Amino acid sequence: MAALAPSPAAAAAGTKSAASAAMPLVRIADVEKVYGGRQGPVRAVASASLDVARGEFVSLLGPSGCGKSTLLMMIAGLERPTRGAISLDGSPVVTPRRDIGIIFQDATLLPWKTVEENVLFPVRILKLPVERYRERARELLAMVGLDGFLRHKPAQLSGGMRQRVAICRALIHDPAILLMDEPFSALDAITRDQMNVTLSEIMERTGKTVIFVTHSIREAAFLSDRVVVMGGRPSRIILDEPMPFGRPRRLDIEETPAFGQMVRRLRLTIEEGHGGAMSGRTGGGE
Ligand SMILES: Nc1ncnc2c1ncn2[C@@H]1O[C@H](COP(=O)(O)OP(=O)(O)OP(=O)(O)O)[C@@H](O)[C@H]1O
Ligand SMILES: [Mg+2]
Repeated sequence: MAALAPSPAAAAAGTKSAASAAMPLVRIADVEKVYGGRQGPVRAVASASLDVARGEFVSLLGPSGCGKSTLLMMIAGLERPTRGAISLDGSPVVTPRRDIGIIFQDATLLPWKTVEENVLFPVRILKLPVERYRERARELLAMVGLDGFLRHKPAQLSGGMRQRVAICRALIHDPAILLMDEPFSALDAITRDQMNVTLSEIMERTGKTVIFVTHSIREAAFLSDRVVVMGGRPSRIILDEPMPFGRPRRLDIEETPAFGQMVRRLRLTIEEGHGGAMSGRTGGGE
């Protein structure tokens, strides 16, 4: 697959220094998050330390309530850690930043705007030159197979197509990192498999760094360079495991014994973190 051309802003900025390329893009240093509340404080994340390298695809996996979304929101600058620090590209994350793209479970497109205008929406918000980004929007939409749908409205698309538009929208301003919170959990199993392959291809093509939250062990194992399991009470990182599968990845790797063994290992770790009380699946399917 050919590489995607850089965005107008990235092309103008030129290449990064060797020192910045060698540093982890994201550094999470002993982070704790306690939410205040009427029913008393909730310790959503007790302790998390994690480095994510440039170009890496890291999944956060774990049972409901273990603090995956909380950690992602802190990386996005949408929540502040109670203790510890998070940095992106060497600078502390204290507020939401434009070098981060976020994709949620629901595509949340603007229903009255066309597919193309939805993808260009962040460019308008950031007051960047829209006409210079139009070609990039079309390239991104072509990359996810939606070049014939530029003038369609979201209501005319399937759930998987809407999520592909959301991915293009998140990539339009060329963020350093993409944060994805269960982006495919509302899709049927076949569409979800297709989206996993599409996302894997997009990442190979754009070289983007991704932190991906999911309940699906198979999805995490298929997509990731590393899978980070959160769990325990209070919640912490209990496993940080490289996925030893080559790239490009095709769905048939899921039929291999090595993949099956990895899924089993991850499932057992999640169960142990949950006090061994789980009855099989962790929600969202394996
Ligand atoms: N804004 C908030 N205020 C108070 N407590 C919160 C808030 N957001 C999350 N929590 C609590 O923090 C804990 C972790 O929640 P979080 O949403 O991060 O879990 P999660 O791993 O993403 O779960 P799920 O898989 O169900 O999405 C939960 O106990 C939750 O009730
Ligand atoms: Mg969540």
